[in-house]
Amino acid sequence: MSRIDIPTLETERLRLLAPDESHLPAWADEFFGDADVARYISKRPLTPLQRAERALRVARATWEARGIGGWVIGDKAGNAFLGAINIEPWDDTEELEIGYGLVPAAWGMGYATEAVQAAVAYAFDVAGVARLSARVVAANTASSKVLVKLGFAVMDERPLENGGTLLIYRLERAAFNIDVLPNTVRPAT
Ligand SMILES: CC(C)(COP(=O)(O)OP(=O)(O)OC[C@H]1O[C@@H](n2cnc3c(N)ncnc32)[C@H](O)[C@@H]1OP(=O)(O)O)[C@@H](O)C(=O)NCCC(=O)NCCS
Repeated sequence: MSRIDIPTLETERLRLLAPDESHLPAWADEFFGDADVARYISKRPLTPLQRAERALRVARATWEARGIGGWVIGDKAGNAFLGAINIEPWDDTEELEIGYGLVPAAWGMGYATEAVQAAVAYAFDVAGVARLSARVVAANTASSKVLVKLGFAVMDERPLENGGTLLIYRLERAAFNIDVLPNTVRPAT
């Protein structure tokens, strides 16, 4: 168990696990190194491995400072790296932002909805987070659908340099009702 004591969350088909160094190769090669995954996530002048290392560092630091942070997503057998969820400070403010992604082989099976729902429920019900925000490129329909299904609403829109639009989503704890969501799976805490 790590010093920070990051909880494992179980859903019907997935496990959200404490990220550690053993996840870095798959996180770098299959996730940040994949052009389809990287298409709509923020561009940083870093190699895929540096991005994975940064994600691990930020996840741990946020758990330590805020009692919430990031997980990697694995299958129930625990052998496959399927993706990651991060909850981290929004541009160094007190606001918390959620981000998520899966390796392409895991797309289109409802995994993102299942995993993000468990993470959001933990953030609100267990960690006592008051509000979560998310930034989504408008063309990323699948990502917007995940958020809207959980009750997130667009609060703002910003133009992107490439001509696209960035949607700013937000969800308050008071507006999150896991009991009315379809296929509810409560996270094991
Ligand atoms: C966005 C992402 C996480 C969605 O994961 P997923 O597991 O495929 O999502 P789900 O299966 O839970 O599907 C969510 C919804 O999007 C729909 N969807 C899935 N892929 C889609 C696509 N390419 N275009 C439009 N809708 C799509 C699904 O049908 C579902 O909608 P429904 O409930 O109305 O049927 C995944 O595509 C991904 O990892 N992309 C790369 C990283 C990324 O962009 N992350 C988000 C950054 S904000």
